[in-house]
Amino acid sequence: MGRAHPQIETGTLEALREHYDSHGQGHVFRFWDRLDAAGRERLRTQAAAIDLPAVLRAHAASAAAKPGASDFEPAPVERLPDHGGDPAQFERAAERGRALLAAGRVAACVVAGGQATRLGFDGPKGTFPLGPLTGRSLFELQAQKIRGLGRRHGRPLPWYVMTSPATDAATRGFFARNANFGLPRDDVVFFVQATVPSADFAGRLMLERPDRIFENPNGHGGVLTALLDSGALDDMDRRGIDTLFTYQVDNPLVRMADPVYLGFHDAARADMSCKVVCKVDPAEKVGVVARAGGRIRVIEYSELDAECRAARDPAGNLVYWGGNIAIHVFATAFVRRVAGDAERLLPYHASEKPIPTLDAGGRPVTPSRPNARKLERFVFDALPAAKRVCVLEANRCAEFSPVKNAEGPDSPETARRDLSARARAWIEAAGIEGIPGERDVEVDHSLIDGPDDARALGIHRISEAGNAILTAPGVVS
Ligand code: UD1
Repeated sequence: MGRAHPQIETGTLEALREHYDSHGQGHVFRFWDRLDAAGRERLRTQAAAIDLPAVLRAHAASAAAKPGASDFEPAPVERLPDHGGDPAQFERAAERGRALLAAGRVAACVVAGGQATRLGFDGPKGTFPLGPLTGRSLFELQAQKIRGLGRRHGRPLPWYVMTSPATDAATRGFFARNANFGLPRDDVVFFVQATVPSADFAGRLMLERPDRIFENPNGHGGVLTALLDSGALDDMDRRGIDTLFTYQVDNPLVRMADPVYLGFHDAARADMSCKVVCKVDPAEKVGVVARAGGRIRVIEYSELDAECRAARDPAGNLVYWGGNIAIHVFATAFVRRVAGDAERLLPYHASEKPIPTLDAGGRPVTPSRPNARKLERFVFDALPAAKRVCVLEANRCAEFSPVKNAEGPDSPETARRDLSARARAWIEAAGIEGIPGERDVEVDHSLIDGPDDARALGIHRISEAGNAILTAPGVVS
């Protein structure tokens, strides 16, 4: 939604202002006379880049949106072997996924355009120091996994990093200062998601400064259009990549480009795949994966009525148990198709927010209550457009512990605890001795990203592991 509407002549300032006037948005130029030349140029450039009719259509459509399907059933899910899945099928999937990685057909993509507001961290979330002992950033922990996959499969795993205008410069600077965490420059590709103007409750765009219309990043669903618009999909085509693993920056437990997942996706010839975990309780606020009208989709927490939320099968398990953890695999051709038809296939969702703006006299106003509607796209909205979808169960303790809040659940503390516990489990499974009791453990994910890697070290005690396994100081191993 970034570019000006091609059919409308907005080349001159007069034409641009008239265009805004004719859509009831002329007020964005109300401080024009006060602006200096640079300010006028900023506002003109920004206003010309906004596809105003499309933005206004999106606001109108989101305001009129009705809750999604009411007639749905649980989605079929490939269950883990512990929950009745066939271990041999998991083995075959892992082999298939490893073959995809070895053939260089896979890339990883992280959505990292969010602003860590809930976490209260001043910087892109990926730069947050999370390593339990080393303080390695979320990005570094992920880069380690990417390096490890490249080494294990003999092919680099290109890494596409989506930023937003608010996080882009800081993210690139962080990677540069850290020498790309040892990854070749060509194999880390940054691209920026688009932004979309918010509107007040009367449908009027808002100024955040006299020379600036307020816009917010267009949601994690913006990754699909940004991959197309930035040329990242073309870059993938050139590299022979047809399978894209996507995840959110805030989950340090992510099983990067998990071969089992890639294998299930590929065997199902899926357009898009989803990983789900068992909801901890009916009230947990995650979307659930369901099937409506023969199509798989995510039913948002707010759309699932209390009865469905609490429904249990005869064995006492939740009927809608499959919580979406926002880890997907896409066929790149499907991303291209959805992104090319985004206005139809990726609806905007509106949420009411307090957005700082200017009063009639140009003085800043910081509202304490929502005064505007912010629009976002969600990546899972692509699901109903997919002909084939594979839904795979994941083990929550091993794969999901996001950093969302400053404290309490889903905080740095819980994520570090879970990261440490998982490293400990891998080391134990490999029969390596000398694990410290209750102390933290941290592994180098480029060397150890599962119990098999821990075994492959061929050591008996942690003290022989060098930097591959770190334990809290003062622990005798
Ligand atoms: C989201 C999902 C939820 C899922 C959870 C898993 C929605 C509505 N909810 O919740 O179903 O269980 O993640 O962690 O999607 N981001 C961008 N650009 C944006 C907005 C977000 O890149 O414009 C990125 C963030 O950097 C982050 C991720 O998307 O990596 C998640 O954003 P966040 O707002 O934290 O999602 P949640 O509402 O927590």
